[in-house]
Amino acid sequence: MITGSYPNLRLRRSRKNDWSRRLIQENSLSSSDFILPIFLIDGKNKKQPIKTMPGVFRYSIDKIGHIVDKAIKNKIPMVALFPYTNSKLKNEIGTEALNEDNLVCRAIQYIKKKYRNEIGIMCDVALDPYTSHGHDGLIKSGYILNDETNEILINQSLLQSEMGCDVLAPSDMMDGRIGKIRKALDKNGYQLVQILSYAVKYASSFYGPFRDAVGSRGLLKGDKKTYQMDFRNSNEALREVALDIKEGADMVMVKPGMPYLDIIKSVKDNFKIPVLAYQVSGEYSLLTNSINKRLIDKNSILESLTSFKRAGANAIVSYYADRINEIIL
Ligand code: PBG
Repeated sequence: MITGSYPNLRLRRSRKNDWSRRLIQENSLSSSDFILPIFLIDGKNKKQPIKTMPGVFRYSIDKIGHIVDKAIKNKIPMVALFPYTNSKLKNEIGTEALNEDNLVCRAIQYIKKKYRNEIGIMCDVALDPYTSHGHDGLIKSGYILNDETNEILINQSLLQSEMGCDVLAPSDMMDGRIGKIRKALDKNGYQLVQILSYAVKYASSFYGPFRDAVGSRGLLKGDKKTYQMDFRNSNEALREVALDIKEGADMVMVKPGMPYLDIIKSVKDNFKIPVLAYQVSGEYSLLTNSINKRLIDKNSILESLTSFKRAGANAIVSYYADRINEIIL
């Protein structure tokens, strides 16, 4: 593949000037590559800092208008909604997930009414923001039940679709849920609601700050290793993706992001479908804290986000998405 050699060939020639570097660049970022997560909290006029995620806030629904306005103005294609659920509303079976007046349902309606189809709305399908034990499903003798959990996830999906959600994102890692959700959606007239499967979600230590943000960290009993993937595995990731595509996923997510660039690449190479990367809360906090302490400079954000594109991701869920125009200047 290499033609020519030194001194005829000098790769530094094309690196000499900025215009030339831009001319030959293989990857670049635009705001259309980003999904903006929004944390919701009950009440009025609230903008609550999340201690472990400097620069990220929980908003009451009356305050999300200007966030969405700015996202639309900056051409962010989609927001992802995550609720901080009052612990009084949590129980063993996550009943609040199916309450049509819950935070996520109200936020979907608010955004749809105000912005119609100017921006996409994505919602997690999982029970962890709603369960008193912090797990993504029903629990029996310490084990997370699969098929019984799927039945609730189906109803959660139908409810969110009814409210106007555009993209359902099952993040629970139960077996078979994509097929079951797809079937129920089609049967109920939601053929055009998309499914973004968190097909490859690892049991990761990088989710800690997110669990603070949704209020499940202190509650979580044990870990999620019986349903989320073992970080030692990569062939298994391809099996997960193959199954979810067969079951009807429109897009797949790999999560976390930076420690799993190899997985993004192999999913893209093997399946040629839209692959999304999630730069998770722990990655965000590590970068942000290091920048704030001046251990590294803020170009590290651009560098790490670009690595997702280079690996093959079509889009990136990032807590920097609200500031992306300053980052990709
Ligand atoms: C819930 C969910 C999690 C994240 C997104 N959806 C946490 C978990 O599975 O424990 C993590 C996101 C992040 O860390 O930024 N199922």
